[in-house]
Amino acid sequence: MSLFKTPEDAIRAYKRIAADNVPGGGLGDENVRLWAALFELQRQNGTKGGALEIGVWHGFSASYICGHLSADEELVLVDKFMREQHFRPTFNKLLGEVDTPIRFFPDDSFELKKDGRLTPCQDKLRFVHIDGEHSREAVENDLELVDGLLQDDGIVVVDDMLYFHTPQVSHGLFSYINRSACQLKPFLFAFNKCYLARPDAHANYRDFAVTVIDQLEDDTHKYNCAFSHRRLDPAYVGISAREYGLPKYSFVNIGFDDLPSLQAYARENIEE
Ligand SMILES: C[S@@+](CC[C@H](N)C(=O)[O-])C[C@H]1O[C@@H](n2cnc3c(N)ncnc32)[C@H](O)[C@@H]1O
Repeated sequence: MSLFKTPEDAIRAYKRIAADNVPGGGLGDENVRLWAALFELQRQNGTKGGALEIGVWHGFSASYICGHLSADEELVLVDKFMREQHFRPTFNKLLGEVDTPIRFFPDDSFELKKDGRLTPCQDKLRFVHIDGEHSREAVENDLELVDGLLQDDGIVVVDDMLYFHTPQVSHGLFSYINRSACQLKPFLFAFNKCYLARPDAHANYRDFAVTVIDQLEDDTHKYNCAFSHRRLDPAYVGISAREYGLPKYSFVNIGFDDLPSLQAYARENIEE
């Protein structure tokens, strides 16, 4: 059993500490809700395993991940500059006493890829967050590192994607997924993060991404779910705020207000 009992419990707990967020890190409200839905999906699917974060800072996303793990699932943390005293207080505030095993590497992720010290995590990670050095080289390095570790039904999340402050992160991710050896496929771009899964698990996660906006919407937040349908586009979903008269669902250049119309169109036209 994880420390957070339900997705609502997780969201409420994070909101309580969000005001203490230190600039340079933390999770926005939409990512808090989306991650709660993703961890709930993994729970429903019986997906068990550890988690890894590269780039811990003051521990906001790391402690939120930790709250979704059970005491028999390990959390592995990597940060070149921060030390336990920088992030432990956030864990304590969010979670109180933590039984989850936490292994911290105060190291550069380039070194960890070279020396193989993370190899014991191979096929044991269900959730990975890459939020370390935001250079193109580092994003490629970190993706290559975790591509060798992720379990078959796990996911990798890359922070600061499609973001004008950090265009090199997008460059690194697109370079990496074009490599022939890459075993990760994006299934979702949302709220400045990209989500990737193994090719065999991709369709399940992408189908979740198509419907998750119903869980995220409320009276004040409305979203557009953009679905790509060309054979040469990997079929991923983009979620963004529904502004400027956007429909709820869209294919390239075509909009729908309800999911059944989108699904009917996909059945007839999709080139996968
Ligand atoms: C944006 S912050 C992480 C924010 C954190 N995930 C959160 O949600 O609050 C980036 C972190 O990456 C670490 N970092 C930068 N370069 C790194 C590298 N090459 N290897 C490992 N960690 C690195 C920094 O020390 C910093 O703590």
